[in-house]
Amino acid sequence: MSAVVDHIIELFETKGQEPYGEDVTQAEHALQCAALADREGAGEALVIAALLHDIGHLIEEPDDGFGVHRHDVGGAAFLARHFPEAVVAPVRMHVAAKRYRVAIDPGYAARLSAASTHTLAHQGGPMSPEEVRAFEAEPHLQAALRVREWDDCGKVEGLVVAPVEAYRDRMERLLSA
Ligand SMILES: [Fe+2]
Repeated sequence: MSAVVDHIIELFETKGQEPYGEDVTQAEHALQCAALADREGAGEALVIAALLHDIGHLIEEPDDGFGVHRHDVGGAAFLARHFPEAVVAPVRMHVAAKRYRVAIDPGYAARLSAASTHTLAHQGGPMSPEEVRAFEAEPHLQAALRVREWDDCGKVEGLVVAPVEAYRDRMERLLSA
């Protein structure tokens, strides 16, 4: 049993019940993203990245009703102390992945939730062509785009998915990897 995994599970159970501008709670959203990753047969690190991509909202005080604006940075910094880059990079990149998709995919902006559209402005808006080129050179680009896709879909009110305890063993294995 690891103290950090206990701590993460406790965060889900305590702070995870808070809203952040969506129709689901933080915990419901994270668990739906992990379930989507699992259903698509994503590898262990990517399933855990999906589960923990918004942990930055749970470890800092919210900026406003939409949570912590720079939760990508805070979340990745926290996870980097414990998990390998295959978990950390998609978390660090998931907000940038939204800015990237908005820049390159004309239909994408219309699919974003109201809260995601609102926070996009705080997060820098669509990427510039230079930012797009730099982002496409990132080694974890595909993993980040997959997490982003699950992030946009994992917001279904009332959907029942596996609890956070179902991911304990995978988190423990990644810690020691
Ligand atoms: Fe998210």
